[in-house]
Amino acid sequence: MPKIRISDGVVKDEVLVVGLAQKPGKNALVIETSDTALNIKKLLEMLDDLGATGKVDEVIKAPGTSTRLIVFTGLGLAQDSYGHEVLRRAAGAASRALAGNTGATFALPTRSKEEVAAVAEGAGLGAYAFDEFRGSSAKERKAPLRNINVHVKKMDKAIATSISERTSIICEYTYLVRDLINTPPSHLTPDSFCKKLTEAAKKSAASGLKISVLNETQLKSKGFGGITAVGQGSINPPRLLQISYTPAKNLSKKRYAYVGKGITFDTGGLALKPALGMEAMKSDMSGAAAVCAAVIAIASMKLPIAIDGYAPLAENMVSDKATRPSDIITIYGGKTVEVLNPDAEGRLVLADALVKAQEVKELDAIVDVATLTGAQVVALGTRTSAVMTNNQGASETFLKVADIAGEAFWPMPLPVELRASLDSPVADLANIGERMGGMLVAGIFLKEFVKEDLPWLHLDIAGPSYNEGKAHGYTPVGGTGIALRSLVALAESAAL
Ligand code: BES
Ligand code: MN
Ligand code: ZN
Repeated sequence: MPKIRISDGVVKDEVLVVGLAQKPGKNALVIETSDTALNIKKLLEMLDDLGATGKVDEVIKAPGTSTRLIVFTGLGLAQDSYGHEVLRRAAGAASRALAGNTGATFALPTRSKEEVAAVAEGAGLGAYAFDEFRGSSAKERKAPLRNINVHVKKMDKAIATSISERTSIICEYTYLVRDLINTPPSHLTPDSFCKKLTEAAKKSAASGLKISVLNETQLKSKGFGGITAVGQGSINPPRLLQISYTPAKNLSKKRYAYVGKGITFDTGGLALKPALGMEAMKSDMSGAAAVCAAVIAIASMKLPIAIDGYAPLAENMVSDKATRPSDIITIYGGKTVEVLNPDAEGRLVLADALVKAQEVKELDAIVDVATLTGAQVVALGTRTSAVMTNNQGASETFLKVADIAGEAFWPMPLPVELRASLDSPVADLANIGERMGGMLVAGIFLKEFVKEDLPWLHLDIAGPSYNEGKAHGYTPVGGTGIALRSLVALAESAAL
């Protein structure tokens, strides 16, 4: 974790990061910065010679005049004021490009405390590396930035401190989500997920956290038929992790339940997935990671809202013990499901956990987060997640806070006419239905397990959770940490 500071000084012996934007027309580069001491004319001549464009994700390093190095990070088209996400990404791209350096001062154009926070967050999120499993190649790796200094012209001390504290928490727990996703199934099982989370909660020094874990024997005897069925094919048995946060002294404004899909590896079970690309299914616990890390982050921020986080964890494997197509299972609470396709396993573990979560009487809202369907990726691509809901207002509120947090979500419907396709000739429900609109069908399946009058959001993050392409902005290759910031922002607003 880098140290993040906000100050009106520039650290002279390090690196200075400024923005570079483009205006239409010739000689149209603009340096955008909070540092007024620079010789802009000279720098623009140099940038011209270097062929700089100011495009998003362009990072140019040059010898500095007042600092060792000056780094120009692309802002795209010149604006009077830049959007938070533009600033976050530009800071992140520079931060990533500065691996190998110790520290940098980010002097991007900021006019409000929200913009300063966006720069700090982007810089922090970009300074991530996952080198835990490197042996001989470890020494060739450049360490990410250790010191991030966000330059402001002037700012109240207390505000600066609160921004750097919040940003550090967001970064620390985004890193945790990414680490968990990047950890391969050889080293991340349902049981070790619980242990890592327990350690993270202890390390956090947050108060009001409580963790409990149900093992495979307890899951079976208590009737968690979904988690049991998905996990029974693996030598690494399933778990249901619960991590709850209660704020001090009845400060609690609201009580939300967060539920995250935790498949530590999804082979597809007996509906075995093709070998090509199966490795990406180590990311099938992204929802669980986001939910659990969000609860610790929320506790660390001492927000006045109670959160119950649930992670139904299982490894979906092929074996003589694996669930067969046509098996009928009983979800916690009594509904029966005919498992027509063991690769539609996420909805089975989520159904158990959703029902369990709703045993809490005073719940104000429930949110589930899951890498649920390939159809999500087909519909919205790899950078936009989906929101489905039984409550339009809740969805609109969520979309607002997610947008401010810089996470792209888009509303998707749950058309009633698709429900019939989930009818089973032998059980209450089948686990697959109409193939077209598969993301919506999965949402409709989950809806069967949610009380009608409880505001519920279903977030399908299948594409955005795991970056199989190139790094961009503050997003690395591999686990992205998507949903963490929106879940925290939702708790901060406590508006559902
Ligand atoms: N974990 C997958 C969904 C997924 C696909 C996540 C691609 C991330 C990237 C999920 O368990 C799955 O296999 N879903 C099936 C459902 C189908 C059998 C109804 C799918 O989408 O193909
Ligand atoms: Mn699957
Ligand atoms: Zn899955």
